[in-house]
Amino acid sequence: MPRVWTDGVVAIRRQEPADLAAHLEAVDVEQMRWLWEPGDPQRYLAMSPQEQRAHQRRHLEHSHDTFGSGPKWAFSVDTAADRYVAYVDCDLANDHVPLGEANISYACAPQHRGKGYTSRAVRLVCEFLRRETSAREAHILVDPDNVASLRVARAIAAVETETFVNERGLTMIRHVLVLNRAAP
Ligand SMILES: CC(C)(COP(=O)(O)OP(=O)(O)OC[C@H]1O[C@@H](n2cnc3c(N)ncnc32)[C@H](O)[C@@H]1OP(=O)(O)O)[C@@H](O)C(=O)NCCC(=O)NCCS
Repeated sequence: MPRVWTDGVVAIRRQEPADLAAHLEAVDVEQMRWLWEPGDPQRYLAMSPQEQRAHQRRHLEHSHDTFGSGPKWAFSVDTAADRYVAYVDCDLANDHVPLGEANISYACAPQHRGKGYTSRAVRLVCEFLRRETSAREAHILVDPDNVASLRVARAIAAVETETFVNERGLTMIRHVLVLNRAAP
């Protein structure tokens, strides 16, 4: 399996514990609001800086150690100038997606938003899915109020297929991209 996938502007690669400083800096209220589980922001904000550091280090170590056979792959996104401008993952065992199909999730560091990095990284993850897995679809689930994330789904030409209410009572819009593979 290649170690890095790139389009010439961004590159996606396995997460590393060395991403810790950038990972800590990238956490903001937007990320907590749209990506974190209920109660997690409060628990995180109640931690001391040392505890937050240890918590995020464990998270990165877990991402690093489980990158391989799947079913989930978490990537850091680099540019030529900066390491870890964004985070993208794909998960083939997500409760909201048919088993074997991919759920894609992402966050961009606040200072790097609006530069197209996340859309580029998601396209690379789709390429990874085509080449390295048997997933046939990539799903992106977005809250209708999350305008920036809706734009990412549209930017990669994922098609809105349904609106549903999840187990937390939140309305979500499902976007699906069919992962066409070239004929052999
Ligand atoms: C959602 C998020 C990852 C987008 O990252 P990003 O790197 O800024 O996205 P991109 O630069 O690739 O932008 C893609 C498109 O969205 C548009 N866009 C980005 N942020 C926007 C905003 N706040 N409002 C309106 N449009 C926005 C861009 O202009 C671009 O449009 P285009 O395709 O017409 O050129 C980022 O806002 C974020 O980290 N949010 C918090 C975490 C989150 O919500 N994750 C998704 C959970 S489903």
